[in-house]
Amino acid sequence: MTLSANKFQLAVFGCNVSHGCTISTAAHGIEVSWDESLRLARKADQLGLEAFIPVCRWKGFGGPSEFNHRAFETFTWAAGLAQATRKLFVFSTTAVPSIHPLLAAKQAATVDHISAGRFGLNVVAGWNRDEVAMFGKTQLPHDERYEYADEWMQLINDLWTREGAFDFSGKYFDAPACYAEPKPVQTPRPVVMSAGVSPAGRRFAAQHADMNFILAPNLDVARDTVADLKHIAASEFNRQVDVWGNAAIFCRPTQAEADDYYHYVIDEVGDRVAAGNLLDTFTAESASQSDDPELREAYLRNMMAGYSGFPVVGTPETVADFLQNMSACGMAGTTLSWPDYDAGLEQLGSEILPILEARGMRSPAETIQSAGER
Ligand SMILES: Cc1cc2nc3c(=O)[nH]c(=O)nc-3n(C[C@H](O)[C@H](O)[C@H](O)COP(=O)(O)O)c2cc1C
Repeated sequence: MTLSANKFQLAVFGCNVSHGCTISTAAHGIEVSWDESLRLARKADQLGLEAFIPVCRWKGFGGPSEFNHRAFETFTWAAGLAQATRKLFVFSTTAVPSIHPLLAAKQAATVDHISAGRFGLNVVAGWNRDEVAMFGKTQLPHDERYEYADEWMQLINDLWTREGAFDFSGKYFDAPACYAEPKPVQTPRPVVMSAGVSPAGRRFAAQHADMNFILAPNLDVARDTVADLKHIAASEFNRQVDVWGNAAIFCRPTQAEADDYYHYVIDEVGDRVAAGNLLDTFTAESASQSDDPELREAYLRNMMAGYSGFPVVGTPETVADFLQNMSACGMAGTTLSWPDYDAGLEQLGSEILPILEARGMRSPAETIQSAGER
């Protein structure tokens, strides 16, 4: 299951949460308005990008930017964007403790119908203890969260694919005589993405996902992670999984200007308070932890630049080089974020996509009519 025939695929990430993925008070961050979401999704659609993926967020991280304090709910957001776009895959990101699989199965099928088979579900296990508490639940230990997610996926898969009523009885879910109709448009089910990095997260992705997003400190580590994930999927589950990266773009006409821009957004007006809050919550919950202050500073900077994605700082040519190197590491695509999404998408279309097209990484977008007037 792949989103298009392009050799290297691109998705816009994080337009549904305030400040997007950049933890900074720099101007032009995401504000979270419907006009803004529509404008950016239509632009991504016109550029022929593959997907529009939200962040699942229920609580922000404070600091001067009040990072992610505002967040559109992702199924209803995807439903609206599905109606306003033509080719783009619109995703929902769902943290499994926040929604029952029966409701998620119905919502996903509904958006899949609205979009005529362009819905994708990004399933995350839910690392944020404070958010889980908002649902009156206690955070499970790290690996057990993936056991819960595994059962959640078994039930939603059954609901999407089984005809007639059936009894489901598991450790976490009990659903007597349950069924869901209508089935999704995509068969056997909508495209499923996950974002696991730990051993438990990788196994979950290998078993259930069509695409898994990874975070890595550099491309060498990413290459190994890609190979490992594909190996687990093939050897243990007889499946194929695409692996995607996550990139934060700081692009200017010259390297010096790009460096200055990055320095401004991160060092001058970066929100270290919110990034620290996020990192503390995340590392307390993640499988791998470190007390090394240098490592913490590196994590903090990457967190500020783009939710820990690769910071890509350079000219259109060097940004294209980096994306091509991601592809050479075996990645099928990457999510993209920018401190300023409007300007970033404009520049992507006029300066970066033509380079990728000339290098055979992507085909030019078909001219598509915006579905805005419907
Ligand atoms: C591209 C990407 C997007 C993610 N989006 C979310 C999200 O929207 N909500 C969330 O709670 N976690 C999100 N995560 C975090 C993952 O669910 C996961 O906790 C993290 O990658 C660590 O992996 P692990 O659980 O295997 O340790 C995202 C991670 C990545 C790489």
